[in-house]
Amino acid sequence: MTIHAERILVTAALPYANGPIHLGHLAGAYLPADLYVRYQRMKQRDVVFVCGSDEHGVPITITADKEGVTPQAIVDRYHEANTKAFERFEMSFDNYSRTSLPLHHTTAQEFFRDFHARGILTEKKEQQFYDGQARKFLPDRYVEGTCPVCANTEARGDQCEKCGTYLSPMQLLNPRSKISGAVPEVRETSHWYFPLGSYQRRLEDYIRNRDERDGWKENVLNYTRGWFKDGLQDRAVTRDLDWGVRVPLEGYETKVLYVWFDAVLGYISSTREWAAKAGTPDAWRRYWLDASTKYVAFIGKDNVVFHCIVFPAMLMAWNDAHTEQYVLPDNVPANEFLNFEGQKFSKSRGWGIYVDEFLSRYPADPLRYYLCTSLPEYRDSDFTWKEFQAKNNNELADIFGNFVNRTLAFCARTFGGILPARGELDSRDQAILDLADKTPVTAGGFMEAYRFRDGMGEVMNLARAANKYFNDSEPWKTAKSDPARCATTLNICTQLVRTLGILMSPVIPATCERLWAMLGLTGSASTQAWDTAGAPALPAGHPLGKSAILVTKIEDEVIEQELKGLGASADAAATSATNAPSTPTATPATDPPKDLITLDDFKKVDLRVATVLAAERVPRSDKLLKLQVEVGTDRRQVVAGIAQHYAPENLVGKSIIVVYNLQPAKLMGQESQGMLLAASDAAGRLVILQPAGSIESGSKVK
Ligand code: MF3
Ligand code: ZN
Repeated sequence: MTIHAERILVTAALPYANGPIHLGHLAGAYLPADLYVRYQRMKQRDVVFVCGSDEHGVPITITADKEGVTPQAIVDRYHEANTKAFERFEMSFDNYSRTSLPLHHTTAQEFFRDFHARGILTEKKEQQFYDGQARKFLPDRYVEGTCPVCANTEARGDQCEKCGTYLSPMQLLNPRSKISGAVPEVRETSHWYFPLGSYQRRLEDYIRNRDERDGWKENVLNYTRGWFKDGLQDRAVTRDLDWGVRVPLEGYETKVLYVWFDAVLGYISSTREWAAKAGTPDAWRRYWLDASTKYVAFIGKDNVVFHCIVFPAMLMAWNDAHTEQYVLPDNVPANEFLNFEGQKFSKSRGWGIYVDEFLSRYPADPLRYYLCTSLPEYRDSDFTWKEFQAKNNNELADIFGNFVNRTLAFCARTFGGILPARGELDSRDQAILDLADKTPVTAGGFMEAYRFRDGMGEVMNLARAANKYFNDSEPWKTAKSDPARCATTLNICTQLVRTLGILMSPVIPATCERLWAMLGLTGSASTQAWDTAGAPALPAGHPLGKSAILVTKIEDEVIEQELKGLGASADAAATSATNAPSTPTATPATDPPKDLITLDDFKKVDLRVATVLAAERVPRSDKLLKLQVEVGTDRRQVVAGIAQHYAPENLVGKSIIVVYNLQPAKLMGQESQGMLLAASDAAGRLVILQPAGSIESGSKVK
């Protein structure tokens, strides 16, 4: 079952402004949301599509502390970066907001104040760690100590990264504050709790009802069943922090709202901001407060509980006491995860690729197309460079692009660029026209059901059939033997080019606009009506535009380069700052060892763990990167010959090893105060060396 509504509200999870977005984010929530919205707009439905940056939460303050800057500086940086990355990816948001907006703060506070005034929230006292030196309560991640399970001395208050155990700070042996290093004291604090448990029955009914009406995805239903089975617990909605939305209550000025309480309301404030910007400040109400709206919330699987349980419960709580009734999500299509070359994306391990970096090397459309064909709709899927190349070359270029280009080239050559008229239709003509006519319906059915791989797959099947139609009709022969037949074939092929341009536009919008211009049409492919896209609409005599290669192939060498950059295992060899400008010298494993040294010789080298705070290219050098590193309390600049192997933005936050007592040197006019350790192999691959576990910067390597 699918709800067909004329007005649709679409949201996509607000990404944390704590780092750049990567391809996994796109495949999880953003591309599906954009495909859905672009399709619904072409169905001529009234759609609003909002998103924004989630700018609160502890990880942001930790990043800020690590870099010695304010949380505001962090969120400004990543809000801007992610806004640009989404634009480059051609996300068609109506509004991309941010939760640091005053409008958002007042929206979130309004909900809290209402719940509090109505006695929904209960206050509970609890024991929490407090840093007496910093005069702050410590969030879980701000406490470190020894893991009670594996004795790792660097365990975090929420989890031990070494053995994976989830912890609470009080379980740590020898706890210490991450802010000052002081031994934290236990103090009493109090927090406000939302009674999630008392909504369980209603939430179960709600999900059953919406599933019946709009077919929820099995993975989403399974996650929510798990939560219901465990029984919903009350949830604290406040935190002792100074970054976030202030608790709007006297006596609680030192507390903020829990990030998830405010973040989900960001969807409402983003829609309000959109309405205000459009000069119709009340327009958001039409979407949020009208029961005939269909609301679809796109997320990744890690967000299910907040969108299927916490957020609906909050809206129910509001609706219970107000005449204005918020719509609850009619569906929450959550994708599983996309991996990268067989492994999870990992910021700390530098595994994966950021959207911005990707789009500085390739246009958005091949990426959109490839991700669309391998969306993790039912299970985790995998990005591989080889498949990216194959999808682009063998499908986008060889099937779709080829059909468009051969049709337009034929029309230019044989008919002077003027669309010839159709004559009588034979059964083959009729069959392909029927398929074109049907495709908006079959593809549309999948799009409505959030099955975007299948939806766009149907369109691609039309392109395959169109190529076959061209081949089977052999217009290069009928051009001489039966010109009327040839004209009919090419008329139909050109109509199919138009149909494909419209139906492919959700996934490859920029390519389809180029196609549109090549057809000599004005306006835009993506504003055409979906339902009638299959009908032959171009009149005979229509002058076609100028055509050019629609889809460019990606060469093997380009993909080889990408695979090299993945940093396969390599033999140990150090690349020093001083030899950096030359190509790293390979040291095959068979090389004889250098002359023996004594332990004392080795001990002369002072190796330390360092954290990369910032990285940039050295002007006029294609090999050098300039890194600002933190070594304990010391800051240094290190210049290293790794620019061809690492993008500067991927290094920030990484732990590396530096030679701490190397004589400073100047490289391309830049002072280098040390060198970093890296390994390179005979093939010229290079990887930097990193500690295998998390360890304080400044730690000695021995
Ligand atoms: N920032 C969260 C994440 O990236 C998602 C928040 S979705 C919202 O996982 F609705 F709560 F904003
Ligand atoms: Zn442990």
